[in-house]
Amino acid sequence: MDVYEAVDSRRAVRAFSDEPVPEEVLRRVLRAATRAPSSGNLQPWHLFVVTGEPLAELKRRATRRALAGDPGDEREYPMYPDGLTSPYLDRFSAAAAQRYGALGIERDADRPRKIAALNSDAFGAPAVLFCYLDRTMGPGQWGDAGMYLQTVMLLLRAEGLHSCPQVMWTMYRRTVSRVAGADAELVLFCGIAVGFEQEGAPRLRTGRADMAETVTFIGA
Ligand SMILES: Cc1cc2nc3c(=O)[nH]c(=O)nc-3n(C[C@H](O)[C@H](O)[C@H](O)COP(=O)(O)O)c2cc1C
Repeated sequence: MDVYEAVDSRRAVRAFSDEPVPEEVLRRVLRAATRAPSSGNLQPWHLFVVTGEPLAELKRRATRRALAGDPGDEREYPMYPDGLTSPYLDRFSAAAAQRYGALGIERDADRPRKIAALNSDAFGAPAVLFCYLDRTMGPGQWGDAGMYLQTVMLLLRAEGLHSCPQVMWTMYRRTVSRVAGADAELVLFCGIAVGFEQEGAPRLRTGRADMAETVTFIGA
């Protein structure tokens, strides 16, 4: 698979089969991803790979919280800025409508609970990668972590695997940290659900803004 194909075929998959991901594949991907760039080569990410019984236990605990309507642990960083305006708000709303339409989740009072419950099961994925940053790191290093995680997700495609980044895990960050054994100096950025896509699951190709909206060529 060439890199264009990997980029084009990566999408947030929200229905995984229970086929386990071989550990040697995860190790190959994560070893290759160590080549991701970072400002000053700080490599500020800390990744916890959770599978098997520890993941099953984490899903049980988080799903119990989700179904109970637990609003989640106090956030360590805002998922989105307050007062999101156009064009970001429009993109957010369009993607949410596409996403929940594909999942068959109606716009009713129970919607947040249903969304939380699907996320807390990692959409059935047999592996979740939890990415943390040291509390002392700033915006530049958070950007580095994004580059690293995209590198991981593209390499997963090269292995025939799919993924879904999940900021929703930050709602249950205390539960995650307990299971992962992450110390208090670390802040949970997000989880990445990893696995093989469930056969017959609806395929969602989320829209994108036209390139001209986000890219400016100067001098060309
Ligand atoms: C950092 C990050 C966090 C995300 N968190 C969630 C999440 O909690 N739940 C979810 O279903 N999708 C989540 N997504 C997936 C986005 O909704 C998705 O990437 C976006 O709508 C574009 O769709 P695509 O990835 O399928 O192309 C997240 C994506 C990123 C990059």
